[in-house]
Amino acid sequence: MTEFLPNHPAGQKVILLNGGYDATDIFTPIHPKGTIEKYLPAEKHLGHLDGEAPIRPKKVDPFEDERLDNLDHLPPLSAIQNIHDFEYLAKNILPIGAWSYYSCGADDEISMRENHYAYQRIFFRPRVCVDVSEVDPSTELLGSKTSVPFYVTATAMAKLGNPGGECSIARGAGKEGVIQMISTLSSNSLEEIAAARIPGATQWFQLYVNEDREMTHELIQKAEELGMKAIFITVDAPTLGNREKDRRSKFSDDPNLDLGKDAQRGSGASRALSSFIDCHLNWDDIIEIKGMTKLPVLIKGIQRVEDIFKAAEIGCSGVVLSNHGGRQLDTSPPPVEVLAEAVPLLQKMDKLKPGFEIFIDGGVRRGTDILKAVALGDNKVKVGVGLGRPFLYSNSAYGEEGVRKAIQLLKDEVELDMRLLGVRNLNELNRNFVDTRRLWSGKEAEDYLYHRNYEPIETVQFRRDE
Ligand SMILES: Cc1cc2nc3c(=O)[nH]c(=O)nc-3n(C[C@H](O)[C@H](O)[C@H](O)COP(=O)(O)O)c2cc1C
Repeated sequence: MTEFLPNHPAGQKVILLNGGYDATDIFTPIHPKGTIEKYLPAEKHLGHLDGEAPIRPKKVDPFEDERLDNLDHLPPLSAIQNIHDFEYLAKNILPIGAWSYYSCGADDEISMRENHYAYQRIFFRPRVCVDVSEVDPSTELLGSKTSVPFYVTATAMAKLGNPGGECSIARGAGKEGVIQMISTLSSNSLEEIAAARIPGATQWFQLYVNEDREMTHELIQKAEELGMKAIFITVDAPTLGNREKDRRSKFSDDPNLDLGKDAQRGSGASRALSSFIDCHLNWDDIIEIKGMTKLPVLIKGIQRVEDIFKAAEIGCSGVVLSNHGGRQLDTSPPPVEVLAEAVPLLQKMDKLKPGFEIFIDGGVRRGTDILKAVALGDNKVKVGVGLGRPFLYSNSAYGEEGVRKAIQLLKDEVELDMRLLGVRNLNELNRNFVDTRRLWSGKEAEDYLYHRNYEPIETVQFRRDE
């Protein structure tokens, strides 16, 4: 390992700690099949182990028995009432490393929470006495039919929560007629996830641009060949956000271990994944990458109106208003605020080509949130709504069936809310149905379910002898 050690994207700590041990259980959930063959030259393969290697003894986790017991006593899916229930279960059944990677945000996690709370500062203006015996929440996103205006957005490492990984998300989403965006950092290979696609289902590919453009080119070609229908380039992660909750959980794996001054920044599942991302990426690169494919190219991670204009100007097919679920720059604005600000300006300036679509993700947990975002498109811009963590959590607890249930719950909520709002299809929904006056200045009501699941950030712990 000596030469490779400094280049390991996850840092040196994990390798040094596990030297001499069988690290299969640590390696497999993070690295898709074929990683070693692809990245490690054959001459580095010194041979097979003769016999079994020991597994590194873990610190005894006082909650492990309780966690395993919870896993054995999961409630039936019929008991799940809403998306928050999945999060509550995930928090109580996931190993600490997986839970902290999934649930963490950046710094003080203000953006992460505001993403959600901002929706609660928007109120509806329902229309009554409309015949709502039939309502239809289906629509088209980037030309693909979908049963609902929301989609599963790209999240890395689904296998940390469930061995079915992104493949079981693909099956669950596909069976419910919902689009799946696949992360560059998926724990299943792109080939596996494409093979798990239900016939007729749509998958999009999320691209992290590699410093090595040839690799990026190959990845795009592979995505095309495997039938992905659009490329979303993530631009909000030129470097990884400061995810303290995640880092602290990994460090607490062995709190007495002092790896010196560089160690802290290098630990945590988050950092493990990201070091190849090109921090030089600029708009000219986006134009170059657009030239590599015939697929629609969209930018994921737009956080200000000016950048929507810019993306439209260079011919992108749309943008995702997103702050990465609050995992990158803390106190970046909640995407729904950016949307509410952007659409009137876009209309006034008349800059968007027909067909330019706006997507939004972050903090969406209810059918009402989804309808608010679609309404803010004001019938001038098609809005698609992404959810990330909810599908990681439902997949972690119940695999494919959990993902289906999460979609069904959201779909039921959307249909019910459409009836109560007095709209029969999404074309009827416009800005007139929402009141945004409190969005920038008001105070939201406390969302008890959301708040109860929120895991406060820990402070530093004293060293204690084992
Ligand atoms: C565990 C986790 C992993 C993520 N991985 C990626 C990724 O690989 N690529 C990406 O563009 N966004 C990634 N995101 C951001 C999501 O695409 C999305 O912006 C965010 O989850 C939306 O917020 P929500 O989780 O509140 O729905 C990730 C988010 C989480 C929670």
